[in-house]
Amino acid sequence: MDRNVRDRPRHPPGMRGRDIGMFYRNLSKRKQSKTDTPTIKLGPCVSVPQTVLAKVEESLRRFEQSCEDEKVLKDFEAQFRHLLCADFEDFIISTKSASVELQDNEFQNQRYKSEVLAKERDPEFQQRYEQRLKLPTMKQSERILAAIKENQVLLIVGSTGCGKTTQVPQLILDDYIFNNRGSQCHVVCTQPRRISAVTVSERVAYERLEKLGVSVGYQIRLESELPRDNGSILYCTTGVLLQKLQTDPLMNTVNVVIIDEIHERGVETDLLLALFKIVLPHRPNLKVILMSATVSEQEFSTYFNNCCTIYIEGTMFPVKVNYLEDIIQETGFTRFRNNPHECAKNKPRQHGKQFNRQNANDFAYTAMIEPYLRQIKDKYDSQVLQSLRCTDSEGCENLQFIEHLIFYICDTKPPGAILVFLPGYDKISKLNSILLNPTLPIGQRYSRKIQVYPLHSMMPTMFQKNIFQPSPPGIRKIILSTTVAETSVTIDDVVYVINCGRMKTNNYNVEANLQTLEETWVTKANSQQRRGRAGRVQPGICYNLFSRAREKTMIDHLVPEIKRSKLESTILNLKMLHIKDVDHFLNTLMSPPDNQAITNGINLLKRINALDAEGTLTPLGMHLARLPVDPQIGKMLVMAALFRCMDPITTVAAGLSFKSPFYTPLGKEKDVDRVKRDLSANKRSDHLLIDNVMLNYRESLQDGSERDFCYKNYLNIATLQQLEDMKRQFASLLRAASFTESGSCNAKTSNENSNNIPLLRAIIAAGLYPNMAFLSKVRRTKNHVNAIHHLSTPEERRISFHPSSVNSNEASFDSHYFVYFQKQKSSSVFIMDATMVFPMALIIFGDGVETGYTEHKVFYISVARTYYFKCDPGTAKMMLELRKRLEWLMQKRALNPSPIQPNTSEDFIIKAIHILLSLDDVYDYTDQYLSSDEEQ
Ligand code: CDP
Ligand code: MG
Repeated sequence: MDRNVRDRPRHPPGMRGRDIGMFYRNLSKRKQSKTDTPTIKLGPCVSVPQTVLAKVEESLRRFEQSCEDEKVLKDFEAQFRHLLCADFEDFIISTKSASVELQDNEFQNQRYKSEVLAKERDPEFQQRYEQRLKLPTMKQSERILAAIKENQVLLIVGSTGCGKTTQVPQLILDDYIFNNRGSQCHVVCTQPRRISAVTVSERVAYERLEKLGVSVGYQIRLESELPRDNGSILYCTTGVLLQKLQTDPLMNTVNVVIIDEIHERGVETDLLLALFKIVLPHRPNLKVILMSATVSEQEFSTYFNNCCTIYIEGTMFPVKVNYLEDIIQETGFTRFRNNPHECAKNKPRQHGKQFNRQNANDFAYTAMIEPYLRQIKDKYDSQVLQSLRCTDSEGCENLQFIEHLIFYICDTKPPGAILVFLPGYDKISKLNSILLNPTLPIGQRYSRKIQVYPLHSMMPTMFQKNIFQPSPPGIRKIILSTTVAETSVTIDDVVYVINCGRMKTNNYNVEANLQTLEETWVTKANSQQRRGRAGRVQPGICYNLFSRAREKTMIDHLVPEIKRSKLESTILNLKMLHIKDVDHFLNTLMSPPDNQAITNGINLLKRINALDAEGTLTPLGMHLARLPVDPQIGKMLVMAALFRCMDPITTVAAGLSFKSPFYTPLGKEKDVDRVKRDLSANKRSDHLLIDNVMLNYRESLQDGSERDFCYKNYLNIATLQQLEDMKRQFASLLRAASFTESGSCNAKTSNENSNNIPLLRAIIAAGLYPNMAFLSKVRRTKNHVNAIHHLSTPEERRISFHPSSVNSNEASFDSHYFVYFQKQKSSSVFIMDATMVFPMALIIFGDGVETGYTEHKVFYISVARTYYFKCDPGTAKMMLELRKRLEWLMQKRALNPSPIQPNTSEDFIIKAIHILLSLDDVYDYTDQYLSSDEEQ
């Protein structure tokens, strides 16, 4: 018997069917990856013609002459590194001597006190104060103040709406003021969301009969209304506090830090908790108060050495909970569509992956619901059971059902606001338009008697104050919200909650290094919070748009965000805080992330030169940490500023950071594809497509035809406006960092190269690198409608363009290389967005560029030991030289930001790059393509 066969491992006993197949497949994969010695597959030839080479070399020479004293740069860098090499604790100690805590000021003490005493005589203030006294937190004020005096760390746990966020900071401040110590009090209270920092500070100012900016203020990124330096309360986002720690790690100007909503377990909140554990021993006078809704609070107190905990009992009215089966029974709604049984009976047989997936979902749904239907069959009408069989009865697939329920409540229930929880922007915006133009007859009767508030951070109504005011008699308030209204925004007059049970969550697959944003079922903890929102002022009703059977499948609570996220941005942030050993620090968190995730993050940051080989922050890394976007997008922005192509690249960056402006109505997928293809102008780029869209949109604004333009092209005007907004933000941030001269994206000086398409591709590549993909083959299907791509990445042997990418249906390309931003895994792995790039761009802006000879003595230049290009030694030498100069320039610009001026000596390097990139238009890389070394 053949040895190999005898020794071959056998599948574990008990394995069946498909699993056996998978077992052997994985086995052979593992073997292959061990035994594969990399054979070099040569890509196209990138040799530069002699005349061009001479021109480029000349440019480089002129640049070289311009290089200023390298020593200055070296000294500068050494200083910079020294600054960053200190560890957080050393850094704290180093700032200790230089800084002073809040000083006592008798004059201010008296002024603050007399101000408050004067206010207390105002009947308006008294009335507002009486309202406050009804909050459970105010009833515990003595206990809370005593506990703060006795402890450095205090945990306050209380159900949502009991007055923690609005009252605790005021209690502390007023206590200081009344004791003639107002000048020594500055309370900072963090909020995980921008919206809550703003609305809460407004509320507190209202309660104190003041305008914002006196004793109460807020600070969120790029926006603030700051209160006075002492005798005051500042509400800020967690991100803002993290940033404050970068310059003032001891928080000397603050005497009380309140970290709110810690039960949400957001990444930034978790980081703050760990950082303050380090800070506390160095600031004995600093008090840290942690505030949480009633969710696994024990963990927090354990993390802070069993710190003192105060529980605040909320006054909650009873809330009746109706599940899907009850709702269908009560409302009599029957128009559900997706009944897997009916589908199977009536529809012709379908083939393909799509169908399989649908099938699997249907099957899982049936397996869940049928046993439950048998249990409840005596309690509900058969029509109800039939409806429950439809997959679109649960969740928020069927918006007409939600519309019906809302108007049913309007029709039959006593007054009270309705709060609807939906997963995200799309559903909120769709339901909003349905409610404004109801389709159902019952809706038309009530459409004038409702006031709808979409509550989403991207929507302008978010900051409308009247959402908190009771609505006029006869008008019912309807709030459409994401999870934001679950704990951080409290709207008092809600009596009815509709919980569709869905939400968007981030997930991170460490092995595949894949970040996804998926819609999932909520957790039991979410449902409990949502239900509670109905019982604020009177007994309420909660409508769960899922069955009791579905609820059984839900998990208890969400995994902390840090365990579900890519860590690049977090690591950069920590580096800015002088945390040398990020790995160690992350392992001191309440829930440390996976070690592989940390390694992945550090590796990426090294590859894009945000960290050096030792893991120290580079000057470029420092700028990337300051930009409020993913580091790769940040790098793209910095490059755009240096290479003066701001307008198109800021559009691309905004599109990637926010979302595509296209929407796809059901059944219109083909039309949308066609529109995208037309607008993409054959550039084979989803990123440049957005730039084209923006240009066309602006043109339509000129003649006032923008609504028409957007309607025809399936574009969302609100999204386009948001993108313009983000572009403005990027431009002003780059201006603030001195990378540009003008704070506008459209300034002429920032756009000298904005029409140079090869350069735009290269800058996109410079940003998105190392997210590369390689297209080895493409062919049309027999019916000539679709294209089949043989696409791979260094991590995936087989990957596809997502159907929504403009490349997904193209069968001809001028280059076989792509860069992308996002991968997603569903039925298979997809590249969501891609731009075709040419080899030169990868060689100039990639990393790990090397030269060498193949086995058959062919000279090559390679990128990241992944892609190899045939090349003559002269070209290779010049390319390496160019890269060295570019690196030098980048380093210099990062240390000392300023735009590269046209027609200066530094501009010669840009000229050299131009010359090389414009070859792409001349060369046909596909012709001489795929000359595998072995074939020669
Ligand atoms: O933080 P917690 O959830 O315990 O409660 P809170 O946010 O302090 O809210 C206490 C009360 O303040 C709520 O019941 C609302 O009536 C009111 N509030 C408001 O009217 N407007 C806001 N922007 C925030 C709170
Ligand atoms: Mg709160």
